[in-house]
Formats: sequence, C-alpha cells, structure tokens
Amino acid sequence: MAGVFAHTVRPAMLAASRADRLRRTVERSPVTRKVVRRFVPGDTLDSVLDIVAALRGSGRYVSIDYLGENVTDADDAAATVRAYLQLLGALGRRADTSSVRPLEVSLKLSALGQALDRDGDKIALENARTICERAEEVGVWVTVDAEDHTTTDSTLSISGDLRVDFGSLGTVLQAYLRRTLGDCKDLAAAGARVRLCKGAYDEPASVAHRAAGDITDSYLTCLRVLMSGSGYPMVASHDPAIIDAVPALALETSRGAGDFEYQMLYGISVGEQRRLADAGNQVRVYVPFGAQWYGYFMRRLAERPANLAFFLRALAKRGH
Ligand code: FDA
Repeated sequence: MAGVFAHTVRPAMLAASRADRLRRTVERSPVTRKVVRRFVPGDTLDSVLDIVAALRGSGRYVSIDYLGENVTDADDAAATVRAYLQLLGALGRRADTSSVRPLEVSLKLSALGQALDRDGDKIALENARTICERAEEVGVWVTVDAEDHTTTDSTLSISGDLRVDFGSLGTVLQAYLRRTLGDCKDLAAAGARVRLCKGAYDEPASVAHRAAGDITDSYLTCLRVLMSGSGYPMVASHDPAIIDAVPALALETSRGAGDFEYQMLYGISVGEQRRLADAGNQVRVYVPFGAQWYGYFMRRLAERPANLAFFLRALAKRGH
C-alpha cells in the first residue's frame, strides 16, 4: 500500500499541484477550506500575526511564507514584494536583533519572477534584495526556499549573490537531490545558514534519491557535514529517525542548543515541536499564509496517505 502511494498516488498529486483547472475547483470548494486550515492557518496578515504571537508565546520561533509560486507576470512578482514589505512592517514591531533571530520570512524565488522569460533571474534577485533590505532594517531573517530541481542552479546562484550583502541569508537544500552533499560542503565551508529538508517535489531518479531509506541516509550524511562546518544548520524535518539522531551529532560536533535549530511545518508534529522547545532547544515553525495555498497544500497531502484519505473523506461526506 505504501509502495502504491509512493509510486503512483504521490507523483499524480504532485502533478495535480501544478494543474490550473484543478486548482480553481479545489480552491472554490468550502470543504477544502476546513482541511486546508490545518496546514495554512489564514489568508490575511492579521490572522498570521495572531499565530506568530501564539507561537512566540510558547517559546517557538517562526518563519513566515507569503504563499505563491511560479508567477508568469512581472506585476504579480511586484505584488509579492509589496506583500512581504507589508508583512515585514508589521513584524518589525515584534522583532529583536539577537544573533539568532526569532522572526524570519521565507521566500520562493519563483514568486519573485525567477521563471519570467526575460531577465527572470535578474528580476528575482532585485525583488529578493528589496525584501532583504527591509528585513535587515527591522531585524528579521530571510531564507530562500528550494523549489524543483530545474531551479536549483539559479536559486543557489541568486542566494550566493544576496549573501554577499546579507550575511545571514538562509538557503534551503534538499537531501533527496544527488548534488546536495556537494552543496552542503560548499555552504558549510562558507559559514552559511542552511535549512536542510528532504525535498517536496516529484524528481526523476537521474537527479534524486527516490527510496525513503536512501533519502533519510542522504539527509543524515548531509546534516553531519553542516553540523561539522562553520555555518548555522537548520534541521527541517519531522522524521523521528532524523530528530533522534541530532543530540548525538550536536555532541560530536560540539554544538550547543543555541548553535543550530529544529524546524517544522505549521500543523505537523505539534507535540514534538513543544517537547523540543520545552527541553531548551530552538524550534522554528514554518507558517504559510495567503490566498494562494493550493500548491503548498497539495504537497502536504502528497506527503502522507492519511492526509489524502482525510481530505477525500471530507469531500465524500459533503456529497451525501
Ligand atoms: P517524512 O516525509 O518521512 O515524514 C516523517 C513524519 O513526519 C511522518 O511519518 C509524519 O508523521 C510527519 N509528516 C511529514 N509530512 C507530513 C504531512 N504533510 N502531514 C502530516 N504529517 C506529516 N521542501 C522543499 O522542497 N523546499 C523547501 O523549501 C522546504 N521548506 C521546508 C521548511 C520546513 C521548516 C520544513 C519542516 C519542511 C520544508 N520542506 C521543503 C518540506 C520537506 O522537504 C518535506 O517534504 C517535509 O518536511 C516532509 O519530510 P520529513 O522530513 O518530515 O519526513
């Protein structure tokens, strides 16, 4: 059953995450909204600020993602920048400038124009720079998300350019990609802030590990490189095999609780988030918000058969 999900259902769902007509149908369904709320707590800035306050109150840090991806129009990319500037304006009143910043925003370069036919990389770089400048002024960190493997070279190059002016810029690496061990070595040597995740897209075997065990092995190998380096590792996973391996790795590499952080997604492994934070670890929760939740939501459904079953049951109940 798990094999059928991984080899058939999951790729189909990830393909559906890019289908425009299906997006419109799913977005309009009132049933979907209830299920979506587990992963995307709100559409509006006010709703996300309430969530930020609650997470900070429980001792957790946050990274906020204004949802949207693959824009095909420079005006949409400019609208994404405006949304981030408004978000940063509101966060600035709550930020502090400790060396580990409790507040962070996460950006997708494809929402900032990376895929535009003319000068996409340049436009995404300039848009990201505008956001980084404002974030720096208000004491908020910025991390650049990782998208599908066709964007990795461009994303790492843009992140590298941004890091020259914004030394704390975070970069996301995906352990399922075969290239990632090399990227980890480079960024660990550069002292960069790196969020290591498994990877959420449907990638071919030519570029990515596809078996669950191979991905976890790659993750642990990459994490050891990051923990041994001079940067700031961010362990983005809910996998107990990974979380349980971290204390020994931290000990081996002489890292204290303040020298790395755990990261988890809003609505997932919430008990574990609290347990880790209560035990004195730094835990950051990735909180997406905004109206364009479809792609993000479909990737979360595709990660776990139980999510898809829950969603389908909700739809079926509505049919009765
Ligand atoms: P795995 O998928 O093996 O899950 C381990 C356990 O976690 C599951 O058994 C289940 O209990 C729980 N779990 C995981 N996903 C769940 C879900 N959707 N619903 C319910 N339970 C779930 N990816 C990417 O390609 N680019 C990026 O920029 C980012 N950014 C990012 C930031 C942060 C903070 C996190 C935590 C993750 C990402 N990801 C990402 C997503 C990441 O690549 C990956 O798809 C998910 O984290 C799931 O992988 P796990 O490591 O949790 O393992």
